[in-house]
Formats: sequence, structure tokens, C-alpha cells
Amino acid sequence: MDVFGVESLIQMIELRGLEKSFGSIQALFGLDLSIPRGCLYGLLGPNGAGKTSTIRIITTLLAPDSGSVVVNGVDALKEPCIVRNQLGYVAQEVAIDKILTGRELLELQADLYHLSQSKKIERITFMIQRLDMDSWIDRRCGTYSGGMRRRLDLAAGLLHEPELLVLDEPTVGLDLESRKIVWELLRELKSKGITILLSSHYLEEIEIMADRMAILDRGRVIAEGTPDQLKDELGGDHVTLRVREFSDEKESMQVRDVLDNIDGVKQIVVNRSQGFSLNLVVEGETVLPKLREELTKADFPIFALSQSRPSLDDVYLQATGMTLMDAELAIAGQRDSKLEAKKGMR
Ligand SMILES: Nc1ncnc2c1ncn2[C@@H]1O[C@H](COP(=O)(O)OP(=O)(O)O)[C@@H](O)[C@H]1O
Ligand SMILES: [Mg+2]
Repeated sequence: MDVFGVESLIQMIELRGLEKSFGSIQALFGLDLSIPRGCLYGLLGPNGAGKTSTIRIITTLLAPDSGSVVVNGVDALKEPCIVRNQLGYVAQEVAIDKILTGRELLELQADLYHLSQSKKIERITFMIQRLDMDSWIDRRCGTYSGGMRRRLDLAAGLLHEPELLVLDEPTVGLDLESRKIVWELLRELKSKGITILLSSHYLEEIEIMADRMAILDRGRVIAEGTPDQLKDELGGDHVTLRVREFSDEKESMQVRDVLDNIDGVKQIVVNRSQGFSLNLVVEGETVLPKLREELTKADFPIFALSQSRPSLDDVYLQATGMTLMDAELAIAGQRDSKLEAKKGMR
């Protein structure tokens, strides 16, 4: 039995207090995460949240500034080689060789894992067939589409039959067909007891695939549980409504005031990415008629209203006060203004 006790029998990955900075940019702020064995675990967050940094630390490619990393009962900071042999990793961006064919690349990878000659042939044949790569595997990688490259990465990560598979945004930019092939394979691997950690900034992907999940925001875990638990914890229904355009900030505040004074309105967000829509969380039967009445009275009649059970986006909204899409826009905006500032300094 290892030094980490019973927890490491239950958890495949245990991260405690991870801190990581890149120069003046702090990427992780004391991140804690436990990923149970046999689970398909989703790491959801906007670009820049710290998903890749976390995954690179788990896969021993990046050292944290502080904190502990235990993978499959092994201290990954002390025994990185053992950990590396136990996991398969599919990186977010891979610079694959353009001259080699896909098959040659898989052969190279099998040699890196020290597979025997017979095992090597068996596994490569199996992966080519399983990921439907037969018709193009002997072409040079330089000619592959994004979907083909991703499938090849996945095959390479699975050659040595790892107990843990870690994938960083595996379906970004993939066509639907390739995406379905990846999802199907992940489900099959899970049914065989393999633990899978999958990062994504697609809500739908995590919602469809994950048994458990964490939402990452600015280097911290802000919510953790099964997707259903996270949604149930929110309580209440999600309401989106449109009113006429606000002519100024004062009118926006006025609408807020009206909503604030209605019993059962639990959360109010003015959604910038979708024009003049308001996102509310409401609880109770009487709220909707009251909303209509009070907003009409205040000269903001409702043009459109939709009501739904909470989604993962609402979970994110509740935790951060922003939709996932607005978070991405804000991060892209910060990046653009930094670039502008740099240009200005020249
Ligand atoms: N090698 C690096 N050098 C400088 N900053 C980095 C580096 N890697 C990541 N960062 C920064 O750390 C933060 C988290 O990035 P990352 O872990 O890639 O997030 P995600 O994968 O969720 O998009 C971002 O602000 C990013 O710009
Ligand atoms: Mg990333």
C-alpha cells in the first residue's frame, strides 16, 4: 500500500493547493481537485481559466510553484516517470511531424513506450481499425485535416493501454463526424474502467459526457459535482427576457430596481453579448405575472420571454456573474488591449 492511504484507492487524481505563475501572470490560485477512479471527469472553463496548466501539471509536463499532485497513488512531483507511463495524454495543440505517415508516427510512439514487437503490431492495428483511420493512415501527416490529426493523437495516447487518459479540449475545431467518433471511443473506454479527464470550453460536451465535473474560473475551482447536482443546487428556473433598449445606464439601473423589488427574483444579470436581454433566476409561481406587471408599469414592456430549467451556463453565471460566452469575450478583450498597449509602446 502506498504512503497516501485510503484516499488514493478511491481517487485517481488528487491535487491540493496548486499555485502556478508565468512571470507576472498567475494561472492557478491554490487549486484543489479530486478525480475518482473510473470516472469520466469534465473540466469546464473559458479560455484562460487554467485548464491546460492544470492538465500539464497532472501529466508532469509542467511543475507547479507549490502544491501536491498525486496520480494513481504516486507522487507526480517525485516520480514523474512512473506517472507518465500510467497515463495517456492528448494535448490541446500538437505539432506533429509532417513528413512521417500516421502509421510511422504510431510505430515511433509504440517504441517510446517500449511495447514488444507483437504488442506493437496488435495495438496499432486495433487503433487504426477502431478510429476508422485505414484509408489515410499511410499518407504523410502533413496532408491530414484537423479531425484526422486529432484521431491520430488519440490513437497515440492509447497505444500503451493507460489506466488514465487525459485529453485537453479534444474536439475543438472538429467536424461532427470526428467529434462523434471521439465521444464514442471515450464512452467505450470508460465502460472498460479507464479514468478519463477531459477539458472543454463547450458546455454541451461536458453536459453530454461527464459523470462529474469542475468549473474552473481564473485559476480556481468554483463549482464541483455531477452536472445534475450543480444544476439542482441553483434552485429556481432560469428566465431570459427582452425589453426595449436602455437609453443610458440610469435606465438600466431603473430596470434592476424594479426587478430587485419583486419577491422570488433571485438573480439578475444584464447580458451584454445578446443585446438587451436580462437573465434572471426566479423561484415561485407568482413571479412571472408580477414581472410582466411591474416592468410594463415602469415602461419596459417585455418583448420576449423564455423559461427553462437551469443549465451549466447558469451554474457558471451564478458563480461568476458572467455567462461563459461573456467570460471568453472579456478575456479576448483583455488580450487585445494588452496587444494594443504593446504596439503603442513601440
Ligand atoms: N507558457 C505560458 N506563458 C505565459 N502565460 C501562460 C503560459 N501558459 C499559460 N499562461 C497563462 O495562464 C493562464 C491560464 O492559461 P491556460 O492554463 O492555458 O488556460 P486554458 O487552458 O483554460 O485556456 C492564462 O492567462 C494564460 O495566458
Ligand atoms: Mg487550454
